[in-house]
Amino acid sequence: MREPLTLQGGNGLSEIYIESGLFDRAGVVIGQAFSPSRIHIVTDSNVAPLYLARLESQLAFPVSHTIIPAGEEHKHLATVEDIYHDMLAAGITRKDLVVALGGGVVGDITGFAAATLLRGVSLCQIPTTLLAQVDSSVGGKTGVDLPEGKNLVGAFYQPRLVLIDPKVLSSLPDSTFADGMAEVIKYGYIANKTILSLVAQPNYRDNIEQIIYECVKIKRDVVAIDEHDTGLRMILNFGHTIGHAAEKLGNYTALTHGQAVAIGMAAAMRLSALLGNADLTASLLPLLDHVGLPSTLAYDREAIFDALLADKKKFGGTVNFILVREAGRAEITPIETDRLHAYILKL
Ligand code: GLY
Repeated sequence: MREPLTLQGGNGLSEIYIESGLFDRAGVVIGQAFSPSRIHIVTDSNVAPLYLARLESQLAFPVSHTIIPAGEEHKHLATVEDIYHDMLAAGITRKDLVVALGGGVVGDITGFAAATLLRGVSLCQIPTTLLAQVDSSVGGKTGVDLPEGKNLVGAFYQPRLVLIDPKVLSSLPDSTFADGMAEVIKYGYIANKTILSLVAQPNYRDNIEQIIYECVKIKRDVVAIDEHDTGLRMILNFGHTIGHAAEKLGNYTALTHGQAVAIGMAAAMRLSALLGNADLTASLLPLLDHVGLPSTLAYDREAIFDALLADKKKFGGTVNFILVREAGRAEITPIETDRLHAYILKL
């Protein structure tokens, strides 16, 4: 088995295993890392029929579970409260383990529940979507949405263990796989152009384990330097500033997160070219198309600007924008809001 990637976080060491077929050895790996008296698994109504029994049958500890309804609309505090009640009813203590089995929503909610119940119970993430495998399961961001906006309540809480099995991705619909490819392409442009060459190949899905490994390595390195997202970690938001604005204008239903990030990356590349940087749209657009993602920003530019200003990345009179200078190298660039307004209108 490949050595795990390790990340020293504020609440302890995180070990990240990436290997095809790992899911069917999850019980062994968990048993080597922990000796809890109980394990509580949180999953959702889509993932439970596929993987819950397969995981529970491997665990040599008393196991309980919560199955939350699938979907971002359930990523709120009431769901966290349900999880707390189930965990306490099952007798979970601070010495026990919580497992998040699912995509980004399950990971974020379960991570927050684990970070806060009894002031912190050990967490294992087993991500089952590409987006969760390359991005959200690693790095310790946890949280839920409020009616006022997404991810407004949360905590930085590193999972003790992340178990990534690319084989589980074969059960995903193509559109969900494509969603994760937006984050993959993001990693290629911000830090490692080898990822872009791998994605450009006709049979890129055959290399998905290597692609995931390269992406997670970047995330690990970035989070090791800036766990609390006050500096370097912002480069992981490439494509997300305009992407979040588009997602919001589509009422979070017209575009998936990955589609919004793809459109946001294309817009950020055009904006970068307007600022005098190399125009990388000619390499980005075919790559997005190749993996089944859109690139056209189909919203009124004034509305995009207004939605973007309401986003949390605005600091005083500037917005921290992530610009890719060349494939594999990004910079955090503060842009005054007046100047940004003028550029957004030209996109
Ligand atoms: N998904 C961006 C981050 O974890 O910072």
